[in-house]
Amino acid sequence: MYYRTIVHRFDNMSEEETYVGRTRTSRELYKNAQQVLAGGVGGSAPSFEPYPFFVDRAEGSKLWDVDGNVYCDYNLCWGVLMGGHCHPKLVEGLKKQIDRGTMYGFVHDNSRAAAEELIKRFPVEKVRFTNSGSESTHYAVRLARRYTGKEKIVKIEGGYNGVADPLHVSKMPDISKVGPEERPTSVPHGKGIPSGVIKDTLIAPFNDIEAMQDILEDNRGEVAAVMVEPVMMNKGVIPPEDGYLSELRKLTNEQNVLLIFDEVKTGVKIAPGGACDHYGVKPDIIALAKAIGGGLPIGAVAGKGEIIDGVGPEGLFGTYSANPLSIEACRITLQDILTENAYPKLERFGERLMAGYEDVIEDFGLKAVVQGVNAVGGILFTEHPVTNFREWTDVDKEKAHRYWIAMVNRGIIPMSYGADEEWLISVQHDEEEIEEHIEAFKEVVSDL
Ligand SMILES: Cc1ncc(COP(=O)(O)O)c(C=O)c1O
Repeated sequence: MYYRTIVHRFDNMSEEETYVGRTRTSRELYKNAQQVLAGGVGGSAPSFEPYPFFVDRAEGSKLWDVDGNVYCDYNLCWGVLMGGHCHPKLVEGLKKQIDRGTMYGFVHDNSRAAAEELIKRFPVEKVRFTNSGSESTHYAVRLARRYTGKEKIVKIEGGYNGVADPLHVSKMPDISKVGPEERPTSVPHGKGIPSGVIKDTLIAPFNDIEAMQDILEDNRGEVAAVMVEPVMMNKGVIPPEDGYLSELRKLTNEQNVLLIFDEVKTGVKIAPGGACDHYGVKPDIIALAKAIGGGLPIGAVAGKGEIIDGVGPEGLFGTYSANPLSIEACRITLQDILTENAYPKLERFGERLMAGYEDVIEDFGLKAVVQGVNAVGGILFTEHPVTNFREWTDVDKEKAHRYWIAMVNRGIIPMSYGADEEWLISVQHDEEEIEEHIEAFKEVVSDL
C-alpha cells in the first residue's frame, strides 16, 4: 500500500520553494556532482530547474529519493520500464544469469531466443542487437544507404532519432531558422556536425504526405530512406493522422525508397508489436531499444533478411552488443512480463488517465490538450491539438515546468520532465495509483 505524499505548503511558498524544502540532500549532492560531471549528471537523465532530485532506490511503480520522499513514477526512464522497477521475474532471472556470467565474448543461444521473440511481434525476418536506440537508428541509416547505394535520408522535423550525426538534425530547431513549412531547412542540433552530413539529411513535416511527396519527387533517385517515429514521442505525444503511415508506405514503395520506423519509444509499448502492429504498416527496417530490455541497455535493428545481413560485411559489431545480461533481460521481458495479457490492462489505465485529465481540464477551463496512444500519453499546455513540430512550439513551456514541479511535490512524477515528453504506465501500476494521479492533477490545476 502506498500513501501519496501530502504536501504541507505555506501559502507564501511557491511550488519551487516547496521542492527545495523537500530535497535538501539532493541540492547538496548536485553541487558536488557539478564539480566532476558534465552538466552535473552522469549522462542519461538531464538536469532541470532548480536542480534534480537524486534517487536512492526504486521498486514496483515507485522511486525513493535521498531525502526519503516517495514518488509514483510515470517517467519510467522515458518508457524503458514498462515492466516497472525491479520486476520480480526480471530480478530472479538476472541473478541467475550473473551466476552464469555477464560477458562471454562468444556467442550464446539466448540471442536467438530473444530475436525470435521480436520476430513474433514485428514484421521482420532478421535481428541484429545493439546497446541503445542511437546505435539502432545509426545502423538503420547505414544499412539503408548500403542496400540502396543512395546517400540522402529524410527525417521528420522536431523528431528525435538519437545522436548519430545524420540524425541529430532539426531535433528542436530555432523557429527563426526553420524555413518554409512544407520544405523545412535542415538545422543541425548544435555544433560539431559536419555540413556535408547535414546536406544529406532532408527534413519533412510530420503528418503531411503531400510535402513528403514533393521532397521525394525533387530528390528522385537520391534518397535511401525515410525515417519516421510512427507516433512522435519527443514533442509530447503526436499520433499519426488517419492513413498517414499507410500513405507513407505507399509513397516510399512507389519512389523506391526504404521506410524506417524508429520504434525506440513505440515498440512493444503502444501494442505488443509496436506501431507496426497498432497501425498495420510494415516498414523495411525497424529500430528498437528502451522497453524491449526491461531496464538493461539494449537495442536492435531488424527487418528484411537481405538488408539486416548487411551488418556482417560492414563489420557492424559492438563489444557489449548482445551481452548475456541485456539479452536475458530482453528475453524475460518479452516472454514473461510484457505478455499479451498485460496490454489490455495497460490500455484501460491509459484511457482512464487521459479521460481523467480531460475532465479536469474541462472543469477548470484550462488551456491544455491531452494526447496519447494506449499506455502512453501526456498533457500539452496549448489550446489546439498538436499534429507537428511547428504546432508544438506554441506549448507553454513555463507552465509545463510549474505543473511538473507541483506534481512532484505531491509524490507523482507525472511524465518525463518537460513539455516534449510523455507519461507511461507500467504493469506494476494499479487502479488506485491512476486515481491518485488524477486527484493530484486536480490539486495543482488551479495554480496553472
Ligand atoms: C525515438 C527515439 N529514437 C532514438 C532514441 C535514442 O535512444 P538512446 O537514448 O537509447 O540512444 C531515443 C531516445 O530517447 C528516442 O526517443
